[in-house]
Amino acid sequence: MSFTIVEPAPARLNRSELAVPGSNPKLFEKAAGSDADVVFLDLEDAVAPDEKEQARKNVIEAINDIDWGSKTLSLRINGLDTHYMYRDVVDVIEQTGDRLDLMMVPKVGTAADVYAVDMLVTQCEDAKGRTKRIGFEHIIETALGMANVDDIAAASKRNESLHFGVADYAASTKARTTVIGGPNSLYGVLTDKSEASDQRDYHWGDMWHYAIARMVVSARANGLRPIDGPFGDFKDPDGFRAQANRAAVLGCEGKWAIHPSQIDLANEVNSPSEAEITKAKRILEAMDKAKKEGLGAVQLDGRLIDIASIKQAEVMVQKAAQIAAAD
Ligand code: GLV
Ligand code: MG
Repeated sequence: MSFTIVEPAPARLNRSELAVPGSNPKLFEKAAGSDADVVFLDLEDAVAPDEKEQARKNVIEAINDIDWGSKTLSLRINGLDTHYMYRDVVDVIEQTGDRLDLMMVPKVGTAADVYAVDMLVTQCEDAKGRTKRIGFEHIIETALGMANVDDIAAASKRNESLHFGVADYAASTKARTTVIGGPNSLYGVLTDKSEASDQRDYHWGDMWHYAIARMVVSARANGLRPIDGPFGDFKDPDGFRAQANRAAVLGCEGKWAIHPSQIDLANEVNSPSEAEITKAKRILEAMDKAKKEGLGAVQLDGRLIDIASIKQAEVMVQKAAQIAAAD
């Protein structure tokens, strides 16, 4: 192991993250009562410019007045290149108590962006005497943000998660997308003919593989949660599940829901299965037994268990306990 110890971000369930436009207060109560682990109230791209001021007022009222239960509550502020952003931070922190848990920074491009928001949030929190520190979620959704993802991930003690914002990322990189977050049939592999047959098969590939894998590495190297962003076609649950699974396989631990119907799908994909939990518990029991018996090596079902598997088992059991507590 390295001498550098990676401190994990505060442990939060983040299997599903529901996006709620700040301009639509009718949706707030429903979001609070939903099964989403995290709700983010959006002041950015779901809100038209002439609705920005009203949306900010709406979210201030909602943070103060709605019972959000044990849900993690986040606010997506506007980008640093807009004049809305400073008021999003100042007004919301000044005019709400300490219910807000996280702030989501869109289109973050450099570590200096994170530093700037941190400075402003810190001043507001200090002035307000706020004791609960607001954590940061950063959306990696521009070529610049991806190019600087390691620096962004390490830029603040407030950092908790990195999110892959596929819609803006596609626009920024000029990628050829069809459905937001889905595949493109042009991104595929045509197999060669073989000696036995002239038949060739065409396999669709995952055009987001590099971007998500890259973000996961930065997030994990800094103890942050990697989260996959939106899947645009909410009438396609199978497409959603396939993309959510691909991201989860690469290491993401959650996915956005841009529609309530996507919450259960995201929770399902990002929850460990009963079989996985049982196996993890058996690994930890075997470890305990080996410790008591003074044995150096841990065995289960005739096989040696390595330290990495034990750590994974611990994380799995902790997560299962968090999910049980949330249910
Ligand atoms: C999210 O903000 C995205 O652009 O995908
Ligand atoms: Mg975006």
